[in-house]
Amino acid sequence: MGLVLVMVGLPARGKTYTARKMVRYLSWKGMKTKVFNVGNFRRSMSGAQVPHEFFDPHNESGMNARKQAAKAALEELCSWMDTGGDVAIYDATNSTQKRRTWVVERLQEKGFECAFLENLCFDKSIVEANIAQTKLGSPDYAGIRTQQAIDDFRKRIAHYESVYEPIEDTKLRWIKIIDAGRQIIVNRCDSYLLSKIATFVMNLNIRPKTLWFSRHGQSQFNTEERVGGDSPLSVNGEVYIESLARFFEDKPIEQVWTSTLKRTIQTASMLPLKKRHWKKLDEINAGVCDGFTYDEIQEKYPDIAASRRADKLGYRYPQGESYEDVIERLEPVIFEIERNEGDLLVVAHQAILRALYAYFANRPREDCPYLSIPLHTVIQLQSQTYGCVEMRFALPPQID
Ligand code: F6P
Repeated sequence: MGLVLVMVGLPARGKTYTARKMVRYLSWKGMKTKVFNVGNFRRSMSGAQVPHEFFDPHNESGMNARKQAAKAALEELCSWMDTGGDVAIYDATNSTQKRRTWVVERLQEKGFECAFLENLCFDKSIVEANIAQTKLGSPDYAGIRTQQAIDDFRKRIAHYESVYEPIEDTKLRWIKIIDAGRQIIVNRCDSYLLSKIATFVMNLNIRPKTLWFSRHGQSQFNTEERVGGDSPLSVNGEVYIESLARFFEDKPIEQVWTSTLKRTIQTASMLPLKKRHWKKLDEINAGVCDGFTYDEIQEKYPDIAASRRADKLGYRYPQGESYEDVIERLEPVIFEIERNEGDLLVVAHQAILRALYAYFANRPREDCPYLSIPLHTVIQLQSQTYGCVEMRFALPPQID
């Protein structure tokens, strides 16, 4: 049965941020997930630039227009779920009990499970940061002077505050995220998926940070195009680790994570940073093919080569792993990176970095086995409220 997550919260409380992160996480795990944002429906039905009076609960025509937008979004969500969606996220303020009852009744009619995610902020500085970081850039205020936009938006929030009712009904399933994760309260999360969702939000940290990825320097196995193994670096690889140390000399990173394999540990050895070696970051296990070249796999195990070509994401090497297995294994690493405060460098392997990169750069899961993560290239991902900005740095020596 499909699940619908219904966002609840005043404007500028981080609902859209939470919803988008959730889509990224659940899609990365292989679930068909989509956000339905009522604001987008309202913008296309009533225009983007409506004054705060539009949101006044005493303004009947505004209330009607908002209800129509809410209805259109909910119906589109239901149709999408009918096509086989796993999780839909209904992103709106849903700020009164009456509105939530209406949503629940419609979802019950359709036979979908429903849970609420409520963002509450008592810390005013979080609200102010949200207004500055996201709302002023929204189409609602395009071309409007900053102070005028802020004043209007504060009045809009006040309209919602005048009718806001936090969720209290303990018969419903809900997760309350208070002050951007300072406190999480969970009620009736009675399924595996909901417990995963609750754990994920517990690990979210909205502070912006920079994440760096690098594959290990070229290894001896790389020079022979052999997969897996635990070979040390080649001569080129040893030069790369000097380049890497120079590159990070002036970057404010605090720690580096590597796998437990020689080539990543050696690659990080010249970095004067706190180190953590994770088995979960070890390269995809190629099972019976470990230590072979791709040509040898083709020759000795043509069936394996063909099956992997046909479904590289799902195909599991005999006695080894598939990309899907790797994604599953990396979930705790994702949680730890999300929790981590401060900038971080991860030195790992091709398949591992493909899976991590797919999550952070928001790439479709199916693309994961083919993403380009070249040797001797540092990838920088700077988190922004709704995504990240990427830069790549090719360091010497460059190899083909
Ligand atoms: O070739 C280097 C390597 O890290 C191997 O150890 C690993 O099996 C491979 O890349 C993963 O890439 P692909 O899934 O494209 O074979």
